[in-house]
Amino acid sequence: MAIRKVARLGTPVLRRIAAEVPPAEIGSPRIQTLIDDLIETMREYDGAGLAAPQIHESVQIVVFEVAGNPRYPDAAPIPLTVLINPQVSPNTDEMEEDWEGCLSLPDLRGRVPRYTSVRVRALDRRGAPLAIETEGFHARVIQHECDHLRGIVYPDRMTSMQSLTFVREHQRYGQD
Ligand code: NI
Repeated sequence: MAIRKVARLGTPVLRRIAAEVPPAEIGSPRIQTLIDDLIETMREYDGAGLAAPQIHESVQIVVFEVAGNPRYPDAAPIPLTVLINPQVSPNTDEMEEDWEGCLSLPDLRGRVPRYTSVRVRALDRRGAPLAIETEGFHARVIQHECDHLRGIVYPDRMTSMQSLTFVREHQRYGQD
């Protein structure tokens, strides 16, 4: 296990379409170590989630977890989840704007519209099929992380850049 360097915006890997993981390779040391590194790196930097391209690996794996996260103090807990080759679909046309940040765009926040409810099908780290239906912040985290596998970062989803704010100023001026 290792804490990996996080790719910042401008690094080409963040704009690539990530490759699917062949199911037969999920049990390999390469993929299992990558998953462990994603989890360790996410926790080290207090991320709510992390996608493999963010640690310079262009494959379709994301992890997320929220448990007393200082970057998201008001968020409800989300258990540690590993998604391999995820397919996300909205459960509704309804979208809601809320604040997001990203470890690849350090110190920034912006308001991003997301579907309020999604379902996701994926494989877990043992290669077993996994289905999740969820809403609210949990659904937001899934959409944000899975966007990374398509070369999309949250400013691409913003309808206006006017809310883009540094975290320090966000806290100082209390925008909501
Ligand atoms: Ni991100």
